[in-house]
Amino acid sequence: MKYPIALVMAVALPLLAVSCNQKKDEAPKSKYPVVDSLMSVMTLEEKIGQTVLFTSDWTVTGPSMRDNYLEDIRAGRCGSLLNAYTADFTREVQRVAVEETRLGIPILFGYDVIHGFRTIFPINLGMSCSWDLPAIERSARIAAEEAAAAGLQWTYSPMCDISVEPRWGRISEGSGEDPYLGSLIAAAMVRGYQGDDLSADNTLLACVKHYAAYGAPQGGRDYNTVDMSERWLREFYLPPYKAAVDAGALSVMASFNELDGVPAHANAHLMEDILRGEWGFEGFIVSDYTGIMEMINHGYAEDLADAARLSMNAGCDMDMMSAAYMNHLKELIESGKVSEATLDKAVRRILEVKAALGLFDDPYKYCDPEREKARTLTEENKAFARQFAAESMVLLKNDGILPLRRGEPVAVLGPLADSKDDLLGSWRGAGEVKSVPASVLGAIKSSSLVTSGASKVILVVGEPCSWSGEAASRSDIRLPKEQTEMLRQLKRNGKKVILVVMNGRPLDLSEESELADAILEAWYPGTMGGYAVADVIFGKVNPSGKLTTSFPRNLGQVPVYHYMKNTGRPYVHPEAKYESRYLDVVNEPLYPFGYGLSYTTFDYSGITLSADNFSGDGSLTATVTVTNTGDREGTETVQLYIRDLVGSVTRPVRQLKGFERVTLAPGESREVLFTIDAAMLSFWRADMSYGPEAGAFKLFIGGNAATQNEASFTYEN
Ligand code: GLC
Repeated sequence: MKYPIALVMAVALPLLAVSCNQKKDEAPKSKYPVVDSLMSVMTLEEKIGQTVLFTSDWTVTGPSMRDNYLEDIRAGRCGSLLNAYTADFTREVQRVAVEETRLGIPILFGYDVIHGFRTIFPINLGMSCSWDLPAIERSARIAAEEAAAAGLQWTYSPMCDISVEPRWGRISEGSGEDPYLGSLIAAAMVRGYQGDDLSADNTLLACVKHYAAYGAPQGGRDYNTVDMSERWLREFYLPPYKAAVDAGALSVMASFNELDGVPAHANAHLMEDILRGEWGFEGFIVSDYTGIMEMINHGYAEDLADAARLSMNAGCDMDMMSAAYMNHLKELIESGKVSEATLDKAVRRILEVKAALGLFDDPYKYCDPEREKARTLTEENKAFARQFAAESMVLLKNDGILPLRRGEPVAVLGPLADSKDDLLGSWRGAGEVKSVPASVLGAIKSSSLVTSGASKVILVVGEPCSWSGEAASRSDIRLPKEQTEMLRQLKRNGKKVILVVMNGRPLDLSEESELADAILEAWYPGTMGGYAVADVIFGKVNPSGKLTTSFPRNLGQVPVYHYMKNTGRPYVHPEAKYESRYLDVVNEPLYPFGYGLSYTTFDYSGITLSADNFSGDGSLTATVTVTNTGDREGTETVQLYIRDLVGSVTRPVRQLKGFERVTLAPGESREVLFTIDAAMLSFWRADMSYGPEAGAFKLFIGGNAATQNEASFTYEN
């Protein structure tokens, strides 16, 4: 076996450096000596090769393919590969890189492991509705265990795009509308993926995407223009990306959209000023799929060489699928349009991450077929997936029909009732339909008597999963009309109907909310989702999910979200004319952010404040007593919102600033306490400094964003 130079360097070099007393004036620039050594011997072509990422033909996640990627790797033209997995396949590709190239630099294998790898969890919008950060982190940990056993080292996750756009298909991939909750979830996922040792054989490099503000496309149409003030960007869209970077993520993916007229793939303000300059990001930035080439379509680059120049000079280190860097960086450097120092920085970042992953120590450490079998789709993983799926579901309506008694006769109808495929949702990683043990119908059959004449009907409706995810925006966010017609018909026939909805976006359920006797928002619940639906329907699990996106009454209300501004003519008088309102619908969404029912009920006491003011670095506490006033145990997510009544810029009518999940036995009461401090009051002020302002505030504590349970306090600087 040929010992590649990279491997030899990784082993021998530290000894050499010690023994021959490394030249004083060449102090190692990297904490990984192998990186310094490789940089000192790499040719220009080999450096450029490390900035190139191609897809294998194993699966397709973009508009173009590259069929001679193995030849590219063998020729040193490609340093990373996406959409390739299994221990055997990655071992063969790695062997080509390590044993058939001059330096033997290992390939970095990436894949979209965003809500599970083989064991598929609920889609991310569903996961977020659990508000269960440890569970979300555990799902990422399991995904990393399974994916790293299949030859992968890199996942294109967490998706940190805040969105208030239900038309946008990719709202399904994020954590909803709230920057505070989205930030906590992003950090939890990075911890789950990266663990505390990236070189371990069960951790994945996280990739923060899509940087930035991809979730705000005009018209909700994917890839469309994004334009917002710097203040709005920083207040409501950037926090989750920053949280993921602060949690240690070592890669970031640029987004397809432009922002303020500059495509993100060449946006130095985003990549250099903010990400690297303000946040101190030390990893590498990768383009999205052909994102660099697409700047020609944006009308920002004249041709592919111009696009390569613009992206590399703005800080984008790796080119996914444009072949812009492969085909043009050499000439750009030789002509001085891109400095070799700029290229060196990009290559060094990439090599440092490969070193952090342990690839130079053992390029085949992730390629063990036995371990792959042992770690995948384990009973423990599936049991967790079932519990987590149930926890992600949101009970939107229940006139008392739920939970059903096990064994009672029930009919199960609807286009998604017997679908196993749709349970997996979009971006299903390596999840396979054959691994799904039961559809909703199959699972309910194992819990009850499924008869066509039953007076109670479980109607399973929603969107086919192809209507969700990338390039899947809709201009109509209602259910397919034939599904609503089925519901009308069943009601005309005197049936009691439990509507189970499987979907990847907030929907207009206005008519359904009138007709159905119960509505369970199930999202696309993953491999074990059929059983999870049955567990909730028959009461084995008491639903506790809370919406993380507002559900509008109709598309005309969009955008509607909980951190709206009050305006100069707030809508407070139903009959008044000159107020900010519609003629045909109220302003409030059908279901607000944070909303979700339980099979029990919860009572909130008034709010007790430890003081009615605080100053400087001080704080005060706000306490409520929550009581389970029903007859079964339940979990309630107690939410804290704050409103700054007067600011140097206008402020939202409420912002989520804290929450606590409490599980209470029937009759049990629990005090829930929040500490209010200056950090909670901070925002991007008129002068674009970040911090609190003195003044009057309100706080609200309740079970969703519409709670009127309030208290007032003041803050002095
Ligand atoms: C896609 C998506 C991105 C994904 C990448 C690789 O176009 O925008 O989220 O990670 O390509 O599949």
